[in-house]
Amino acid sequence: MQPPMSFSAPFIPAMSDSPNTPQLTKPARPGEKSPGNRLEAIAKGATFDSVIHKALLAEDPIVEVKDFNLWYGPKQALFNINMRFPRNKVTAIIGPSGCGKSTLLRCINRMNDLIDTVKIKGEMRLSGDSIYAPGVDVIELRKRMGMVFQKPNPFPMSIFDNVVYPLKIDGERNKAIIQAVAEQSLKGAALWDEVDTRLRESALSLSGGQQQRLCIARAIAGEPEILLLDEPCSALDPIATNKVEELVRELRGDYSIVIVTHNMQQASRVSDYTAFMYLGRLIEFGPTADLFTRPKLSETEAYVTGRFG
Ligand SMILES: Nc1ncnc2c1ncn2[C@@H]1O[C@H](COP(=O)(O)OP(=O)(O)O)[C@@H](O)[C@H]1O
Ligand SMILES: [Mg+2]
Repeated sequence: MQPPMSFSAPFIPAMSDSPNTPQLTKPARPGEKSPGNRLEAIAKGATFDSVIHKALLAEDPIVEVKDFNLWYGPKQALFNINMRFPRNKVTAIIGPSGCGKSTLLRCINRMNDLIDTVKIKGEMRLSGDSIYAPGVDVIELRKRMGMVFQKPNPFPMSIFDNVVYPLKIDGERNKAIIQAVAEQSLKGAALWDEVDTRLRESALSLSGGQQQRLCIARAIAGEPEILLLDEPCSALDPIATNKVEELVRELRGDYSIVIVTHNMQQASRVSDYTAFMYLGRLIEFGPTADLFTRPKLSETEAYVTGRFG
């Protein structure tokens, strides 16, 4: 058994290079065979400390996750997750299907509250504010986040009404403000040039890729602190995917973005940091370039080079 993860300060996970973080196997070496021992051990229930690269310590966190566990009924889907998502950076969450990527993302805006059988243990914070403390106003909390799903979900209303929806439900009545936000958000989502002459047309008349960018425009119209994207390109063709990826790259720096993807090329193209998950555990989390080219764990290397998953 491993000792529990130590915290040098609240919400700061132990660093992989620190002596008090034991490692089960050595880091990958060129030519080394995939050990898989650690992943087998995890599958059998061994506890495991995530390997978190030091570069993350220098980042200002927007979302902090501490000792976070989640069960769907009797089945545990997240195991003791400790991580800090950096502010104004793009973080990709990668890992094989069913490893808990969407579950973790949905916990950030408490969407899993909507599932009766879900139980959670642990803490999350958004800009220092507890997400799960008793008495948190979940509606107010969700207004601070924008979420985009796998399948574009424009509402059955005009393009314009879709974008300004967050303002309308927030009670904004000032037409000039509403108009300005619509234009700004559509420009921000790289869609304005394609729709500026047809704002009153139904959003459902747009192509899939345009619909997804409209959903991103709607998400940013609410001026969220963080954007949560769950495989936003999985229902799109390559050209539309490219546009959405370009958009994510453009938004980077101005927005804190978490993007779940099972597409490793996409993660490497759009993100600053990448978190690799497996069987509900955070395995390794670090700068994207490092995770893909010199991961600290041979298991991460095996996954990013396509040897399993
Ligand atoms: N609503 C649900 N009810 C029960 N089990 C679920 C539910 N959603 C996801 N799971 C289970 O939780 C695990 C993680 O799922 P998910 O977060 O969707 O993984 P990923 O997004 O990485 O594919 C899987 O075993 C999945 O079957
Ligand atoms: Mg998923």
